[in-house]
Amino acid sequence: MRIIKTKDKSELGKEAAGIIAAQIKAKPDCVLGLATGSSPIETYRELIRLYQNGALDFSHVSTVNLDEYLGLGREDAQSYYCFMNEQLFRHVNIKSENTNIPDGMTTDIERECLRYEALIENLGGIDLQLLGIGHNGHIGFNEPSESFSTVTHCVDLKPSTIEANKRFFDSANDVPRQAISMGIQTILNEGKILLIASGPDKAAILREALLGPVTPEVPASILQLHNHVTIVADEAALSEIAL
Ligand code: GLP
Repeated sequence: MRIIKTKDKSELGKEAAGIIAAQIKAKPDCVLGLATGSSPIETYRELIRLYQNGALDFSHVSTVNLDEYLGLGREDAQSYYCFMNEQLFRHVNIKSENTNIPDGMTTDIERECLRYEALIENLGGIDLQLLGIGHNGHIGFNEPSESFSTVTHCVDLKPSTIEANKRFFDSANDVPRQAISMGIQTILNEGKILLIASGPDKAAILREALLGPVTPEVPASILQLHNHVTIVADEAALSEIAL
């Protein structure tokens, strides 16, 4: 596991974008696994800047997002579909048919999960997966539980996640109670993993995830067993880890 410490969130965005850019340059038709939340916003901003400077070409890149809220349609401003368009896709030359996000409006959840898992397999797997980390250690929407989840599945969101994510909605009541998320096994199958974390509120969970026991109670702790993980985190998020 490689840990890169940055001064702040903006430097973190540049570091993480640099790693993603290197992946695109090495394999122009690579498959990127993407994440939502506030953590990747600077990274996406930097990728847009690199594209605008002519340093990056997304025309052959495919993307697969980690998760989507159930019950939110593509036109819903809080959907991860909308987030990705706003924060990245509409600013770069990626083909919309090459971007993939679980369908939050599906009427057949089981089938949608199978479709998504098959889609990742048909793409040949994910070359580089970007991850944030929830305050309770979740990755994607894989919440703490008694066992590690396997493939793409429907998740009941924990009250703490609803509380943490309510900032994007009018109120906690508007946060969907369920989501479709890639499973831990889906994530572990991936070639390279890039986890980003910033701010003092992520310090305790980052220490637990990286140095504590590997346990499904802290889903991100499973990354200790993956052989190609890079962590890019700022000083505040790494303040409880001696490097
Ligand atoms: C959400 C997403 C995760 C993300 C996490 C952290 O629940 N499903 O993929 O990593 O929140 O969010 P933030 O980066 O806003 O702290």
